[in-house]
Amino acid sequence: MNNNVLTSSLADAMVRVTEEAAIAAARLAGRGDEKKADAAAVDAMRSAFNAVDFKGRVVIGEGERDEAPMLYIGEEVGTGKGPEIDIALDPLEGTTLTAKAMANACAVLAIAPRGGLLHAPDTYMDKLAIGPGYPEGIVSLDKSPADNIRALAKHAGRAVEDMTVCVLDRPRHQEIIDSLRSAGARIALISDGDVAGVIATTDPATGIDMYVGQGGAPEGVLAAAALKCVGGQMFGRLVFRNEDEKKRAARTGITDFDKTYSLNELASGETVFCATGVTPGSLLDGVSVKDGRVHTHTLVMTSTDGMVRNVRSARKA
Ligand code: FBP
Repeated sequence: MNNNVLTSSLADAMVRVTEEAAIAAARLAGRGDEKKADAAAVDAMRSAFNAVDFKGRVVIGEGERDEAPMLYIGEEVGTGKGPEIDIALDPLEGTTLTAKAMANACAVLAIAPRGGLLHAPDTYMDKLAIGPGYPEGIVSLDKSPADNIRALAKHAGRAVEDMTVCVLDRPRHQEIIDSLRSAGARIALISDGDVAGVIATTDPATGIDMYVGQGGAPEGVLAAAALKCVGGQMFGRLVFRNEDEKKRAARTGITDFDKTYSLNELASGETVFCATGVTPGSLLDGVSVKDGRVHTHTLVMTSTDGMVRNVRSARKA
């Protein structure tokens, strides 16, 4: 990695951070308590950050200072020695998945030099993502999902019937689902975890060609930081349900509430992205304990050189 701020040793330290959060959350998998699992992940992630030599600043975190005791937006983490780094984090992406011991929960973070990540408020975001290899301008949040998948199929030289779109299974997505079905596309519905849903578009092995739908804005920035490393296109537009959400956005410096953000606006700086599986999933294996050792699987990607590494670690339980 050739960036004097995002060094290889900093990336390795971030692997340790998501590993610790995933291990802590996995201990509480299947116990029906989302809050407890999330709190364990937050606590472990914060302690792990504080062992790293950097001046970390949380820009996307657990919430605003008055509502989140730890890893709140603006919190400074790390030893205070070293580079100035902005952090987007989700110590437990898939709290419900973890509480129910369902697939695809992970601990996730992205880092960038100061100012390199959009300070997205904790609102929803309309998201559209496709993998690498397509020209720019063929899909857009202003087009219907049916038109987008038809355009993608045309460029891929495939029938729309052979294209698969990942969508969060929510009643609010009925129109999107109807539109895609009218075009003839396959839909892979997921119950939670749209960071993995977006990343799936970049890996041909998943069979996912496009991601579309409304999910958390913080998760949108995390997914963009991942795509920045492996290529692909992503668009995000904030969705406000009330005036309070607009005020939250204004506090993070957002002035244009209708703006469509491109990938490079969601993640404008170079990034390192790390995700460690909590429960087993399509992207990552979950935490497992075998022969007195805890095994973890982490995906770590760096945008400066496009490096993708799968890190498998084992340590004493
Ligand atoms: P949590 O980890 O906070 O449970 O989020 C999971 C998730 O599925 C995200 O991946 C997604 O962006 C968001 O929830 C969707 O929100 P909602 O459940 O309100 O539709």
